[in-house]
Amino acid sequence: MLGSGAVAHDFARSLELLPDHELIAVSSRSLERANRAREDLGAKRAYANYRALCEDPDVDAIYVATPAALHCEHVDLALSARKPVLCEKPFTVNSEEARKLVQKARTERVFCMEAMWMRFVPAIRELKAEVASGSIGEVRLLSAELGELVPYDPAGRHFAPALGGGSLLDLGVYALSLAWFILGRPIKGHAFSTPAPTGVDSQMIISLTYPNGALASLTCSFEQRLRNMAFVAGTLGSIATDSPLYSPNRLTLIRHTPGSFSPEAGKRGKLHTFLSGHPKVVQLRREYAPLLRRIIRGDRKTKRLSYPGYGYQFEAAEVARCVGQNLLESPVMMLGESLEIMTAIDALRTSGEFDWSAGAGDDLANR
Ligand SMILES: NC(=O)c1ccc[n+]([C@@H]2O[C@H](COP(=O)([O-])OP(=O)(O)OC[C@H]3O[C@@H](n4cnc5c(N)ncnc54)[C@H](OP(=O)(O)O)[C@@H]3O)[C@@H](O)[C@H]2O)c1
Repeated sequence: MLGSGAVAHDFARSLELLPDHELIAVSSRSLERANRAREDLGAKRAYANYRALCEDPDVDAIYVATPAALHCEHVDLALSARKPVLCEKPFTVNSEEARKLVQKARTERVFCMEAMWMRFVPAIRELKAEVASGSIGEVRLLSAELGELVPYDPAGRHFAPALGGGSLLDLGVYALSLAWFILGRPIKGHAFSTPAPTGVDSQMIISLTYPNGALASLTCSFEQRLRNMAFVAGTLGSIATDSPLYSPNRLTLIRHTPGSFSPEAGKRGKLHTFLSGHPKVVQLRREYAPLLRRIIRGDRKTKRLSYPGYGYQFEAAEVARCVGQNLLESPVMMLGESLEIMTAIDALRTSGEFDWSAGAGDDLANR
């Protein structure tokens, strides 16, 4: 464990749920903190500097859990020691750093993955599988929002520019990663944001468009607790996650009538508009609302996908699986995707938009 902060502790406790994982060593910039973490978490060793951890021959993989602005330096340290790395989200604070790490991991042929744990929790894996099975048809719209009320502290990692602050890097990255997971690479993106006094974004709204006309609408905020859910709407139905979208316990699937954009549906739509505007129909609908709701609910299914602990165990198991099979990247969270997402984040944070309709032209991301 490289870093001994809040998420490192939660991650270490998640490892306790995996019988074939062992927390060998913790590291901190301070020996006192390292020793405290070792005792709290039952690690074998404590190091007062990160390099010593990377050089420990008994350590098979390193989990980087320092503030985002230090990920590049610390992942580089681990890769230089030829240790497989799982690096907390966001992968880096800009695409230049992400490119450097992707190049290094590929040149050194060492496993590396962004710790986008959301992609590995059961409900999000199920969401991906449902979409891939075609059960909701072609995805036309995805919306996701994630917001927490984060007390303003100009020196803390959420608001300090030097530590990689901003709601997009901290929370929006989940929404972007979900959009990429479900819809792939967008062709255009546009964002509006509100700056915090330190200059980093305290909230942001992002729109993405896709080659087939699908859209994504994403929101992140440090100013308000939002609904923290995702909704994926397709031509045959929709899927909603419960909250929080990075580790939901439940999916709600709703199937609706196919072909609602066909000419026949257009005619049916006109009839529907005419009938639903008729006072008698409106009254009947109100009277029979409970029955109608029961009929509609017949097409509604709830899938419960709860799990023990925090949920970081799934990404850890993926690292073990990949390293065990000599894979250099996880097919679920490829390095090229982390780089693409960082490239989009750069553009959304600086100019507020990107246009990749003529191709992103990113050789590394395409590999
Ligand atoms: N996956 C998730 O659910 C999740 C949740 C929260 C955060 N995160 C990510 O995890 C990372 C760490 O977040 P956190 O909430 O655990 O932060 P945190 O509690 O502030 O811990 C960060 C750790 O980084 C180390 N560090 C090294 N250099 C530092 C510096 N210059 N300033 C501050 N800390 C420094 C510190 O460890 P030592 O002092 O012991 O060296 C500190 O304990 C961030 O990238 C964040 O985005 C992920």
